[in-house]
Amino acid sequence: MDILETLDELVDETRRRLSDIAEEQALEALRIDVLGRKGRLSAIMGRLAELDPAERPKVGEKANAVKQACTDLIETRRKDIAARKEEEGLARFDPTLPGRAPWQGSLHPTTCVIDQLCGVFVSMGFKAVSGPEVEHDYYNFEALNMPAAHPARDMQDTLYITPTTLLRTHTSPVQIRSMLASPPPLAVIVPGKVYRRDSDLTHTPMFHQIEGLLVGEGVTMAHLRGTLTTFVQAVFGADTRIRFRPSFFPFTEPSAEVDISCKLCGGTGNCDGEPCRVCKTTGWVEILGCGMVDPAVFEAVDYPADVTGFAFGLGVERVAMLKYAINDLRMFFENDKRFLEQFL
Ligand code: DAH
Repeated sequence: MDILETLDELVDETRRRLSDIAEEQALEALRIDVLGRKGRLSAIMGRLAELDPAERPKVGEKANAVKQACTDLIETRRKDIAARKEEEGLARFDPTLPGRAPWQGSLHPTTCVIDQLCGVFVSMGFKAVSGPEVEHDYYNFEALNMPAAHPARDMQDTLYITPTTLLRTHTSPVQIRSMLASPPPLAVIVPGKVYRRDSDLTHTPMFHQIEGLLVGEGVTMAHLRGTLTTFVQAVFGADTRIRFRPSFFPFTEPSAEVDISCKLCGGTGNCDGEPCRVCKTTGWVEILGCGMVDPAVFEAVDYPADVTGFAFGLGVERVAMLKYAINDLRMFFENDKRFLEQFL
């Protein structure tokens, strides 16, 4: 066959072969076979040397036209394949499927509970204040009637920073700071983080407390009981009962621990015939410590001798667990979205 005919035939052959090709990969293989460096067109052009020099320009021109024609055929096919692929994709696409909603942030349940609990006290006239988490030994212990050798210091597993500075083990030091900052009468509520060297299933090295302090003339334990009853019923419901159990804290005298009737078993001690695991069948659960401010504390802040006051301190996570029937303390610290989302 004459070289010009061979070139023409290459276009026809390419067209024929293309009709069987439906995939991008096969198309690329064909392009390499026809137009590649070691391809069919190159092979034909290799025969140019055998030709009469006078004929070469014509053949060269033809070769360029063939190259262009084959390229056009291949590129047209490539577009067809892409268009078909897109159509197939669209056919599989279901526009009625729901979209992916972006994750919306929210307040942490601990924050929500702190806001709610403090809100109850603020509605009764308490002022919300805060204090430092890195605290001096003096405010955390000494001024709260726990001098250096006091055995009560042993009850607290303290994280010391220096021999005299520490991470506060309770929010009670803010009682001292508040009284030093303003004269009586005084009613403050103090939410905040506290730290203890404790870590197991029911203790975390950091947790939250809310401290309360009310000082004025003629303040009695009856005011304390009334305030806490109002608080407990606002948070746990109007049918919740409250009881005071005698206890000891160095900064209050007398001191008490407060129990509320168990929300799980309704104070009966058993749930559908099973012993209640929340109150361990007693019908009561402890929620806070409280008492009348010890005169030694008033002395430390130079308050007049004729004032009296009450104070209390509660664990936020503990109240949140009782309120929302959460049985694992770690939930508050693991930041599992499935848990957090329930408090949006
Ligand atoms: N500070 C105590 C604690 O962390 C709790 C407490 C008890 C605070 C009695 C008080 C109180 O203000 O009166 O265990």
